[in-house]
Amino acid sequence: MSVIALLGAGNVARALAPAWSAAGHEVLIGTRDRLGPAAATAEIVVNALPGAASVEVLGRLAPQLRGKVLLDLANAVELGPDGFATRLLYANLAERLQQELPETRVVKALNTVGPAALMADPGSLAAPPATFLCGDDADAKRVVTGLLADLGWPDGSIIDLGGVAYAWWPESFVLVVRPLIAALGPVPFALSVAR
Ligand SMILES: NC(=O)c1ccc[n+]([C@@H]2O[C@H](COP(=O)([O-])OP(=O)(O)OC[C@H]3O[C@@H](n4cnc5c(N)ncnc54)[C@H](OP(=O)(O)O)[C@@H]3O)[C@@H](O)[C@H]2O)c1
Repeated sequence: MSVIALLGAGNVARALAPAWSAAGHEVLIGTRDRLGPAAATAEIVVNALPGAASVEVLGRLAPQLRGKVLLDLANAVELGPDGFATRLLYANLAERLQQELPETRVVKALNTVGPAALMADPGSLAAPPATFLCGDDADAKRVVTGLLADLGWPDGSIIDLGGVAYAWWPESFVLVVRPLIAALGPVPFALSVAR
């Protein structure tokens, strides 16, 4: 069992913390005033901050993040007046984080899943969803795969896309959320790959 720090204490943290606690992990919630201590104590750190703030905030935490696995599930977007993403702030946020944190092992996952409660309840959809891993460190991806299994993501639902350079692809999905909600209504949904 691991010590996991969730950096950010919003919707995502509220969804993931009880699920990982129930799986036996020790979970620390990194509220604004507790980001440094939480990151320093944990073995695995989760970026549950707004994407727009992630590079600056996590960059300041580089010493506390050294050597650790960073699960990055953030979407860095400019929001339109309706609250939906209109454009990406980075061509590849996870890759930008990996450059900022060369001694941290960044793995992108879960950012295509919403609302946050679905991250910890993927079996609730009519069809099994997929989530995508991008990262340069094979061991870090194994660690994240284990954490996803603890949330209920079965073998076969976790698709390894390769290195962090490929994270632009799952990150782009956020741009389709507004038209999908316009088409489907505000229902939980996630990507699935039929094969
Ligand atoms: N919610 C979803 O369905 C979903 C799905 C996929 C991906 N994501 C991604 O997951 C991330 C978190 O989403 P969320 O819905 O949990 O967001 P949220 O509810 O808005 O929570 C964000 C958290 O980050 C903190 N925060 C904001 N700016 C900060 C800063 N400059 N320094 C330190 N802490 C800061 C907030 O603190 P305060 O409360 O003090 O402001 C809050 O605890 C985002 O990148 C989002 O794109 C979310």
